[in-house]
Amino acid sequence: MSVRRLDPVQPDAFKFSPANLKWARDQMKKYPKGRQASAVIPLLWRAQEQHGGWLPEPALRAVADLLDMAYIRVYEVATFYTMFNLSPVGKYFVQLCGTTPCWLRGANDLKEVCRRVIGEQQQVTEDGLFSWLEVECLGACANAPMVQINKDYYEDLTAESFEQLLADLKAGREVKPGPQNGRQFSCPEGGPTTLMNGAAESKKSSAAKSTRTTKRKPSTARTKSATKRGGK
Ligand code: FES
Repeated sequence: MSVRRLDPVQPDAFKFSPANLKWARDQMKKYPKGRQASAVIPLLWRAQEQHGGWLPEPALRAVADLLDMAYIRVYEVATFYTMFNLSPVGKYFVQLCGTTPCWLRGANDLKEVCRRVIGEQQQVTEDGLFSWLEVECLGACANAPMVQINKDYYEDLTAESFEQLLADLKAGREVKPGPQNGRQFSCPEGGPTTLMNGAAESKKSSAAKSTRTTKRKPSTARTKSATKRGGK
């Protein structure tokens, strides 16, 4: 993981919007008196959302003041968790998984697309639309390779489908999150392969039952004749 530092270019101030401030105070009420610091992560997250996807230093101070925390405690949280961006990101922030399953399935090809279409990591395109970052496993390995763009996952990508996805986003066309190769969720590629032949299975099992019944017939006959011999 790269060193995480605050961005060298910072705004002068940060203020929660009235709606977000009310939301933040409601979050703080969830914790016992004196334990408001427990709300630090949701408040930082909301500050990041309000500030276009990244956390400027004044926002860290605003959160610390609200929670009555030392500034350094809030800096520690913000610089530790990679979910917090410490520099500006594009309107579409691409997090590209480069961990082994995605790497084996072509993550390097997707990286090439990022470099060609967006530029170097953590740089925002001139139009402000895109930036990208390589991240560790995002927990969708069954659909590797994949990327997260803002809050959505785009999976089963190829270099071509990924480039098309970026082009669609750029053009403002609607895109569909999830697998991009037509498969449903993480079902096997090409469709389900189990529990497919219920009818055939039930035919087979009735045939097996009838064979067992036919085989039992002689023993039934024997039972009957034995009954006759016994005079009952
Ligand atoms: S390795 Fe890419 S999502 Fe797990």
